[in-house]
Amino acid sequence: MTRLRRLRKNKQIRNLLQENRLCLDEFIYPLFVVEGNNIKNEISSMPGIYQQSIDNILKECEYLCKNGIFQIMLFGIPEIKDSIGGSALSEDSIVAKAIRAIKKHFSEMIVSADLCFCEYTDHGHCGILNENNDVDNDKTLEILGKQAVILAQSGADIIAPSAMMDGQVTTIRQALDESSLKDKLIMSYSTKFSSAFYGPFRDVADSTPSFGDRKTYQQNPANRNEAIRESLLDENEGADILMVKPALSYLDIVRDIKESSLLPLAVYNVSGEYAMLKNAAKANLIDYERMLLEIMLSFKRAGADIIISYHTKEIQKLIIES
Ligand code: PBG
Repeated sequence: MTRLRRLRKNKQIRNLLQENRLCLDEFIYPLFVVEGNNIKNEISSMPGIYQQSIDNILKECEYLCKNGIFQIMLFGIPEIKDSIGGSALSEDSIVAKAIRAIKKHFSEMIVSADLCFCEYTDHGHCGILNENNDVDNDKTLEILGKQAVILAQSGADIIAPSAMMDGQVTTIRQALDESSLKDKLIMSYSTKFSSAFYGPFRDVADSTPSFGDRKTYQQNPANRNEAIRESLLDENEGADILMVKPALSYLDIVRDIKESSLLPLAVYNVSGEYAMLKNAAKANLIDYERMLLEIMLSFKRAGADIIISYHTKEIQKLIIES
């Protein structure tokens, strides 16, 4: 018998030698908040994922806390959109209201807030446009700083900028520090590819660009060195946590960044990855639960410390059962 076979023969020994494990503490569950009351709209491309009004978000949080899931990430879908995403810049923005309600009832929740403008602008781009219909980096930085302060003052523990503007981490850190919000963390979407895997999310968040695409500010999926450089830039600007998004098709980049930085690293297991798996299960093509766990373990093996996933509630059940 070879040494490797000997090591695998007994289940307990296999467990003893297992190198990576899933633990609920490292998962973050995304939630989508809408205005109104008693609203819970399932997203057709993402079975099991809903746009919910704050009352239902609170019910969701109660379920999550009862089941040991204490990390969430909030996305807002506002009632009114305009050219600069003005509704994100008010203390009564949908996400600010949701954070205050969640923190009031579930202070143990660690709340991350996505920081971007694509859900709030009528053109669906991530910031303010200039006369050539390009996103104006520096003008957008100003309002990113403002939105970050509002979200943090409302009680968000982690600000997660996803707008991909140059210099956004520096700007946000400065804005938070100047408002006595020094203890708030920044989890930067530091390596974010221009990806087809965000398709279903844009249905949920109603944030498909009305013209053009995001290729000028998101990264080219073909580039490995640039992907590493982008994350290292955010580390230098003061990010507390780095991120690779999407996850599944970019595990090489996860490993590269893990080896280039000592910061904690998150992966975002995005909407398209979720939709593919759910639909394959619906068509009876796969052993869903085994495949789900295998994918999650692949993130850990690649070097992820944090997994942002729509599957978090299912993972909780699978961990309990195993
Ligand atoms: C931007 C944002 C997006 C996602 C997270 N934050 C959309 C985009 O960049 O187009 C995508 C997440 C997913 O696909 O699940 N606010």
